[in-house]
Amino acid sequence: MANGQGGAMHESILIYRRFRYLKLALFGIAVAAVAYGFHSPLGEPNGGTWLGYTLGGVSAFLILWLMWFGIRKRRYGPGKVRLESWLSAHVYLGLALIIVATLHTGFQLGYNVHSLAYVLMMLVILSGAFGVYAYIRYPRAMTANRRGDSLREMMLQIADLDRQCRDMAMNLADEINKAVFEAGRSTRIGGGILRQLSGSDPACASAAALEKVQGLAAAAGGEDAARCRRLVALLSRKCELLRRARKDVQLQTLMQFWLYLHVPLSFALLAALSAHVFAVFYYW
Ligand code: HEM
Ligand code: HEM
Repeated sequence: MANGQGGAMHESILIYRRFRYLKLALFGIAVAAVAYGFHSPLGEPNGGTWLGYTLGGVSAFLILWLMWFGIRKRRYGPGKVRLESWLSAHVYLGLALIIVATLHTGFQLGYNVHSLAYVLMMLVILSGAFGVYAYIRYPRAMTANRRGDSLREMMLQIADLDRQCRDMAMNLADEINKAVFEAGRSTRIGGGILRQLSGSDPACASAAALEKVQGLAAAAGGEDAARCRRLVALLSRKCELLRRARKDVQLQTLMQFWLYLHVPLSFALLAALSAHVFAVFYYW
């Protein structure tokens, strides 16, 4: 899924079989909420009443089942219809946990391992929700930004423009020549994760060169003025391409980075949940 398929398929996850899994999730939530409403335990509602144990069991089962998806999805290969069904169920039943697990806790949260499991679960759900948003929103944004070019093609065009800029700068003042050479040498696309996610580079050497040439062009006269104007046009095109290439990297990273939170956080949740269940039975 994370390999950038079309947006249409990802939207179909949400409406799969006329919202079958949304309806199932809403039904489950309604049953849990009604039971919680009618439930009148001796003390405060909490995870230790019969309803508490039931909702806790259901939540834990759902979490294990949602994690199973990681194994399941690798089994199918191209049989995407079944995979869509799984993912649709994953999304809606995962979201249902927000209510079901909260009712299990009886709203008794504090600084302990029980609440750690709860917070981790919420973070997994939040990252998952971002993932669905990314799968729906970003493939389209990527297509619009690429305008028919691939990232590789954009890179080739940038390299070509860079060559033209250097040729043009050769006959201009040393200061311009140096700035254009520097722009070719140290302009970067991507870099560390934060740089990739930002989709820009405030210290871009090409943008600096463009600014410098624009400044010096005003003072140039005759032949040099015309060369400077052409150089400004080339550098502007290069900067525009760089902007698009960085945006492409940003979108690709956004499509993938959430999974690097979703999956490890799921395992952390599993560990905290095991500690929670162990603790409640051990101190029973
Ligand atoms: C097999 C599944 C589960 C069982 C048997 C279980 C059992 C319990 C019990 C007995 C309590 C009451 C503890 C007390 O009052 O001291 C409790 C509370 C709680 N449970 Fe669970 N639970 C399960 C699953 C979950 C899940 C999936 C979550 C969330 C991810 C969760 C989060 C909590 C929280 C936050 C509390 C409140 C702790 C407090 O009172 O400070 N539990 N659980
Ligand atoms: C506690 C709840 C959840 C757990 C434990 C969980 C766990 C997982 C796991 C283990 C995977 C497989 C990832 C892989 O191996 O590549 C996965 C995939 C996914 N999860 Fe969740 N998830 C939960 C809730 C959610 C929610 C609520 C959403 C959306 C609102 C969601 C959206 C997704 C998506 C879109 C994928 C597919 C990623 C892909 O195949 O590219 N998850 N989840």
